[in-house]
Amino acid sequence: MLLNKMLDGIPGPARNRVEATLENVSVMMQLKSPKVAASMAPSAVRGLFMRQGKHHDSVKMTASHDVHFDLKYGLDFPEMNELYRRAVANQWDGDRDLDWSTQVDPMNPEIPIVNADFLPFEGLREYGIKLNKKEMAAANYNMVCWFLSQFMHGEQGALYASAQVTECVKWMDGKLYGATQVMDEGRHLEVFLRYLDTKLEKTYQINDNLFVIIDDLLTDSRWDIKFLGMQIMIEGLALGAFSTLHNNTQEPLLKNLLRYVIQDEARHVHYGVLALREHFSKELTAAEKREREDWAFEVALLMRNRFMGHEVYEENYEGLMTRRQWNEFILKSPAMQRFRSLMFKRLIPNLEYIGLLTPRVKGYYESAGLWQFRGGKNASQLTEADLVADLV
Ligand SMILES: [Fe+2]
Ligand SMILES: [Fe+2]
Repeated sequence: MLLNKMLDGIPGPARNRVEATLENVSVMMQLKSPKVAASMAPSAVRGLFMRQGKHHDSVKMTASHDVHFDLKYGLDFPEMNELYRRAVANQWDGDRDLDWSTQVDPMNPEIPIVNADFLPFEGLREYGIKLNKKEMAAANYNMVCWFLSQFMHGEQGALYASAQVTECVKWMDGKLYGATQVMDEGRHLEVFLRYLDTKLEKTYQINDNLFVIIDDLLTDSRWDIKFLGMQIMIEGLALGAFSTLHNNTQEPLLKNLLRYVIQDEARHVHYGVLALREHFSKELTAAEKREREDWAFEVALLMRNRFMGHEVYEENYEGLMTRRQWNEFILKSPAMQRFRSLMFKRLIPNLEYIGLLTPRVKGYYESAGLWQFRGGKNASQLTEADLVADLV
């Protein structure tokens, strides 16, 4: 309350910067485990405070993992081998299999790039911002560009993370499978980039929170943290986001593109849960396991609260409403609520399957409202067909 009163006395843009800094500090203060806070701190400084993802054309991230060079050449993980065969058989070509001759007009109300209620921009009236129909369509167009831009940045992270874990894993079948994922992620990067560049003609910079998670897992030397971060957490987030956008767009090229990508991502999460279940149950000490439990919870929280289109806010609404008001508007929008529940419906059963939802962390998940998602199908039980069946 006192803080709100103090903030009220600060003029618009300065107030927004103070609010953004306070938000970032509060993220770091909320970290429950000192070990997790220490391991994430350098990435948080680079992403949230120095905003490296925003101020440079490229960023150097120093990798420090061990490469596992296998000399036994045994085929050692039949389930991964089966995923590898499936991945080889299901490779697609983003140039050949998608119809790039499709005319895309994101402002055409006949074929909406996203349904008009995706984000209910008439709700901005509450904050004194009145948009006409055309302005609302433009606002939704911006949000779609923002989502797809974050997908593109995430895919670049996935490309490097999958290359790193291919080096690190000890199973030969895992390395073979990893090679197919590297190809998949390259193709995903290609199609999102091409769609943004040639059809929507607008991209947004990387979200600071996404930058922190990617920086953290690419620079962590522990391969299983890379796996947990990329294959379980970010892929889980991506699956929820891809499906939400797929079900909210009528634009046929985008719908088709997302459907292809979703089928690949289903295999990626499956690979992640197979590897981590094996590793967490056999190789880690109790203290190492606890650290993974905490890390997963902190990243889940980051994902729940922190992907709110701030880049769109800064571009269009910064002088018109406060950052807090924007957060409130985004958090209560039905599309974002559906996205979050789809994301956690996929993610939480996977964390359960790999053994990270222990009684010790139950209270954390309960207070974050995430414990209710337990008990659903995990990635080893879900086929690509199951995921496609969720699409409309
Ligand atoms: Fe991907
Ligand atoms: Fe992936």
